[in-house]
Amino acid sequence: MCIKLCKPKRVKLKDGRTALLRRPEKKDVRQLLDFINALVDEDVMILMNKRTTLKDERKWLKDALDNIRKGTLHYVVAELDGRIVGSCSIKKGKWRESHVAEYAISVLADCRRLGIATVLSKYILAVGKKDKSIKLIMLQVYAANKKAKALYEKLGFREVARLPKRIQYKGKLMDEFVMDLKR
Ligand SMILES: CC(C)(COP(=O)(O)OP(=O)(O)OC[C@H]1O[C@@H](n2cnc3c(N)ncnc32)[C@H](O)[C@@H]1OP(=O)(O)O)[C@@H](O)C(=O)NCCC(=O)NCCS
Repeated sequence: MCIKLCKPKRVKLKDGRTALLRRPEKKDVRQLLDFINALVDEDVMILMNKRTTLKDERKWLKDALDNIRKGTLHYVVAELDGRIVGSCSIKKGKWRESHVAEYAISVLADCRRLGIATVLSKYILAVGKKDKSIKLIMLQVYAANKKAKALYEKLGFREVARLPKRIQYKGKLMDEFVMDLKR
């Protein structure tokens, strides 16, 4: 499904450069490893807080590519000047939640505020709309992640729940919001 729906696309960024939005491939493993480890080192507000290894990243990417083939994952990366600088996905739930897809986004620090998250998100949400098995797209975001929340509201997500003390972040317990995309 993602194979048919996620066609490569070139987009102009705010600084005039062109990024390529495309599906990840097996050969991207080292770049994806650098990508996730840079976010972990920065201590951004994502679930993962431990650096990963090439071996684990290979396994993770193999599973992701399998899920893309099975149609349970739509996943695109943004490539800028030959480097993967952004990642965006929607992953379908299982069984009685197979109509629900969870969206996730991240962009490397030195490439933020160029509009990459916006173009990646619009791309993947349009794919989600074409996938008729998806009835609801949702996300989870830390209450303190104001930048991400502002992005999500612009994209049409609305807060539907606040989960108290759901996340450990910098030694404190933090609330998390659940947001649904209004269709
Ligand atoms: C949140 C994140 C994905 C935004 O990526 P980005 O490529 O910089 O976003 P864009 O340039 O497309 O900006 C989109 C909107 O997000 C909001 N935003 C992004 N950065 C912001 C900032 N520093 N301050 C305030 N709002 C911000 C704004 O509403 C912005 O729209 P605008 O440019 O019209 O003001 C990026 O900061 C990131 O990856 N952060 C670390 C990982 C993370 O938090 N992921 C989300 C986990 S839930």
